[in-house]
Amino acid sequence: MFAPTFVATVVASLAGYAAAQESHQVTMTNNCRSGRPVFLYQANSTPQGPTTIHGQLLGGVAWIDGFAGADCLSSGVNCGIVEFTLRDDAPFQNAADFSLLTGSGLGNHQFTYPMAFNYLGACTQSATCASPSNCPGAYTGSNTTSGSPVQCIGREVGIHITFC
Ligand SMILES: *[C@@H]1O[C@H](CO)[C@@H](O)[C@H](O)[C@H]1NC(C)=O
Repeated sequence: MFAPTFVATVVASLAGYAAAQESHQVTMTNNCRSGRPVFLYQANSTPQGPTTIHGQLLGGVAWIDGFAGADCLSSGVNCGIVEFTLRDDAPFQNAADFSLLTGSGLGNHQFTYPMAFNYLGACTQSATCASPSNCPGAYTGSNTTSGSPVQCIGREVGIHITFC
């Protein structure tokens, strides 16, 4: 038998190990003829290309930077975006969706290019936004509750995002 204090110490250090190991892979494919795929998230507002994030990835926003013929600004303002949150804390709720919200203060997210995503790891769900009228689950207009995010329950979940 281990002494209770020893067990508590081991459990605490295992919890710390798990937290330190949390990571979420973000991969992106750009099939558009211009621009480059980038994303930012709550803890890092500098747009970056595909990478693995260590720790929680809350409020992720992906778009095409430099898409020809559109004026996509940071956070995908003026353009279509994929939004995603990947987190390992209970209840292990990962979510992703498309936003075409155009309302005042909502980012003027017009449909700009086809978008798609699929989860990596624990889940196989995917979604595709092929056109303004064929973008199932997207947030549209000025209604901030109009969308239906695709949920994934699991740990160490990543996401693959495709543009065009
Ligand atoms: C917003 O969208 C939701 C979901 O489709 C709908 O139930 C609700 O009535 C909409 N709200 C407005 C103000 O249109």
